[in-house]
Amino acid sequence: MKNIVLFASGAGSNAQKIIDHFRNSDKGRVSLIVCNRPGAGVLAIAEREGIPSILIEKDKFLHTDTYIQILKEYQTDLVVLAGFLWKIPVNLVQAFPNRIINIHPALLPKFGGKGMYGHFVHEAVIAAGETESGITIHFVNEKYDDGETILQERCIITKEDTPETVARKVQALEHQWFPVTVERLLSI
Ligand code: GAR
Repeated sequence: MKNIVLFASGAGSNAQKIIDHFRNSDKGRVSLIVCNRPGAGVLAIAEREGIPSILIEKDKFLHTDTYIQILKEYQTDLVVLAGFLWKIPVNLVQAFPNRIINIHPALLPKFGGKGMYGHFVHEAVIAAGETESGITIHFVNEKYDDGETILQERCIITKEDTPETVARKVQALEHQWFPVTVERLLSI
């Protein structure tokens, strides 16, 4: 049984899908939820699901090994960033080489980088007149949205689309593909 640790900052809809996917699995389980935002929806999900959660502090996250120690105590096999909005510090990347993955709501390398999250991404996609968008699941390195791609899935954008409708299409792809991709990575 592999231990998955979810990092999230927001509502946690992807976290919920991953929890649901592994609820009765013998391959892995969500062992811990790490959050950086007091009051984030994902913390309520953790409580409802009976999954331990921690609220992390920026200074400790960036400048100490505190959370690396905690991840080791949980015998973490895979760290999954599910809408986590802080950059991962290099000590954490190095402690879990190719064991940290992120999901981004666009087709990287387009529309990535600092400040490109949530609705900002979909607004930029519409403003650029793109005819497609999608999701990128990738390994995490010390730069924002930059590591090796694991999976991309696409959706069509029409002239009628708005940032809100693109967000819905992209979220559907995330919920469809993120849990199964996490499962695949557990076995390699
Ligand atoms: C997801 O759309 C994810 O791709 C995005 O945050 C959202 C979290 O939603 N991540 C980024 O933008 C990272 N740059 P959720 O809290 O409902 O899972």
